[in-house]
Amino acid sequence: MAGPRHILVINGPNLNLLGTRESRFYGKDTLKAINTRLAKRAREKRVRLETYQSNSEAELVGRIQQAREEGVGFIIINPAAYTHTSVAMRDALAAVGIPFVEVHLSNVFARESFRRESYFTDIAVGIVSGLGARGYELALEFALQYPGKK
Ligand code: DQA
Repeated sequence: MAGPRHILVINGPNLNLLGTRESRFYGKDTLKAINTRLAKRAREKRVRLETYQSNSEAELVGRIQQAREEGVGFIIINPAAYTHTSVAMRDALAAVGIPFVEVHLSNVFARESFRRESYFTDIAVGIVSGLGARGYELALEFALQYPGKK
């Protein structure tokens, strides 16, 4: 079955600092390195893949809204700290109705208790947490095979 032709990868606040940020939780890969690997895999599969990072909740909401206009078929999102706070981003994802996977580099269930609460998980197709940068690659493999609307 044909998977989505257009996939969007969204990263929230402070993920631009990957590579230099708390490597015991987030590893040593930069966001650029992660995105480069994702782009290579998408090219192999002849799928359009876009990556977006912002530290601003308003911009992230705007990018999610724009995804519907663009016909994005699947979203991979690490909302970062907004995971635990953003009703606005949750509502945007619910509004556009694009299936998404929630990714966290760290195991959010093995850290401070506030990180166990997510505004996204119950409306996500699924969640990958604690597998480091590999989590994005695994989410992409899943997305590539995600069945489109019948
Ligand atoms: C994170 C986990 C969040 O709790 C944290 O605020 C982040 C990154 C992760 O990828 O493990 O910024 O989403």
